[in-house]
Amino acid sequence: MQPTVSVCQDKSCGRKGSAALLAAFEEAAQGACVQASKCQGYCKVGPSVRLHNRQGGYVQYAAVNTEDVEELLDELKQ
Ligand code: FES
Repeated sequence: MQPTVSVCQDKSCGRKGSAALLAAFEEAAQGACVQASKCQGYCKVGPSVRLHNRQGGYVQYAAVNTEDVEELLDELKQ
């Protein structure tokens, strides 16, 4: 599986700026796979983001904002 950033675009995260967050990931991705997702189950602490690794697992992040994008993309490469 290709390492992938999954950014929740469901209602609660959407109200907290997840569309702009998804756009920021897409702009900075540099070859990384970025995708929108439905609810990830962390609505109260959104925007919610998952970093999926090559082994099929993932790390969950909450309250992500555009200032976190570069750091998370660096983490995805490791
Ligand atoms: S709406 Fe984003 S985690 Fe539920």
